[in-house]
Amino acid sequence: MNKLLLGDNLEVLKTLDEESVDLIYLDPPFFSNRNYEVIWGDEGEIRSFQDRWSGGIDHYIYWLKERVGYPTQKPEALLDRIIKCAVDESDIVLDPFVGGGTTVAVAGRLNRQRIGIDQSVQAVKVTELRLDKQGDLFSVVKKI
Ligand SMILES: C[S@@+](CC[C@H](N)C(=O)[O-])C[C@H]1O[C@@H](n2cnc3c(N)ncnc32)[C@H](O)[C@@H]1O
Repeated sequence: MNKLLLGDNLEVLKTLDEESVDLIYLDPPFFSNRNYEVIWGDEGEIRSFQDRWSGGIDHYIYWLKERVGYPTQKPEALLDRIIKCAVDESDIVLDPFVGGGTTVAVAGRLNRQRIGIDQSVQAVKVTELRLDKQGDLFSVVKKI
């Protein structure tokens, strides 16, 4: 356990044991400028999701305080709250879009076991440095 895995999450997930994870936190790529409000093509459908930020990504980043150099990094307080209310100590937290490593960093400090996956070499590097800085013992598995 406590692994950082480099690869496409759909492929990496196939290598994990079934029902071996207690919490999955998902933060997939956003600001794709895509429109997801029409799912079934029904004209009466209400808007369900729109992936556009007015002001662009810089506007969003402006609000984030703790920066590790990853553009879409999320606030640690958010993950702290989610993890504390969703899983107990020693439970396993999985983030298949690990990015700058917020989930695994916070999970480590809260004594949860953790698995991070990302297909970006840069993301894995940034997360590795972040975990290293907080003295987190983690094994990094490159390219699954
Ligand atoms: C929005 S960012 C995650 C940010 C993260 N929550 C944080 O706090 O730093 C999304 C991440 O998903 C990764 N990603 C996108 N598609 C992926 C895939 N199919 N498999 C693994 N990682 C993927 C991207 O490389 C990117 O780092």
